[in-house]
Amino acid sequence: MPVADRVEEVRMQVNDLAKAAPTARELMQRMVKLLHERMLKYNWVGFYMLEPGTQPPVLVLGAFEGAMTPHTRIPLNQGICGAAASSGQTVVVDDVSRDPRYLACSLETKSEIVVPIFVYGEVVGELDIDSHFAAAFTREHQELVQHCAILVGKKLETSSR
Ligand code: SME
Repeated sequence: MPVADRVEEVRMQVNDLAKAAPTARELMQRMVKLLHERMLKYNWVGFYMLEPGTQPPVLVLGAFEGAMTPHTRIPLNQGICGAAASSGQTVVVDDVSRDPRYLACSLETKSEIVVPIFVYGEVVGELDIDSHFAAAFTREHQELVQHCAILVGKKLETSSR
């Protein structure tokens, strides 16, 4: 199946998940499972969420699929995760070995995308995906992952967590 078709199919499947999931937590659990299973180059898929009330702010590992990571709590001044959450911008790294911010999760990881999640305009967390393939996150993948992050943000706005 061409990548564009696979991306479109998964986009429809995450839309269905967002409609069906009773809570944001449930949506995040189902979403990481779907993305990890269906997108063959998404080798680690997980959410980091800002811990409410913690100063300085810290990102805490939430639902994920893939190998356990040593990075369960990430301050905003560390890692690609910290960069995405503190800037509110999607960060795509085609070759993690060339990015000094990178915190290693698996030695096999070659590229990474981190997309912030907004609730009422504020960053509350992010969706982080690692790939064993260099430059895996082309424009169509970026759009899919950003769509996923928007769905989670909307769910957080409209349902209990
Ligand atoms: N690579 C991330 C850390 C999280 S692990 O990839 C799961 C970073 O540089 O922030």
